[in-house]
Amino acid sequence: MKRRNFIQHLCPALSIAEIAFLASCQKEDEPMAPATTEEEKEFQRISALFNADGFFQEGKSVYVNLAHKNFVKLSDISSFSNIIEAGILLLKTDETTIKAFNNCCPHQGARGSWVYSNGRFKCENHGNSYNTTETNPVACDSNSISGGLVRYPVTLFKTYLKVTKS
Ligand code: FES
Repeated sequence: MKRRNFIQHLCPALSIAEIAFLASCQKEDEPMAPATTEEEKEFQRISALFNADGFFQEGKSVYVNLAHKNFVKLSDISSFSNIIEAGILLLKTDETTIKAFNNCCPHQGARGSWVYSNGRFKCENHGNSYNTTETNPVACDSNSISGGLVRYPVTLFKTYLKVTKS
């Protein structure tokens, strides 16, 4: 199944622009190849597990369906999604990169008060801000008022993002 057809199969309600974005998530040199039998099986297994909000957790892994309406906004550079229940912030940093961070504030652990601007997440709970460049990452709820958010590795599989929390 071609990538574009696969995406349409995944969510027939997507607009052409949304499909174009999702198709562009692949690296330049990634071939437009049919999914292998193993990939199809993995897709079937994963697609059955997503909740109505477009994500699910399995152990330390968080799977996000980028085709879900809650995450389509990640097509815009500097846009972000805070999945409070899963403990992650997703940030679109350039055309091909979505970074994931622990959404726990290094100051006093707030998770739901983030705004993003100029490469930094600011927690509006007390106004402290943290970098997204992995410079001096500081732990959740460690009373730190500077440094960076803890970043998690991200893997892209079709329209699925897998974030591995440490
Ligand atoms: S809890 Fe985030 S700045 Fe205080």
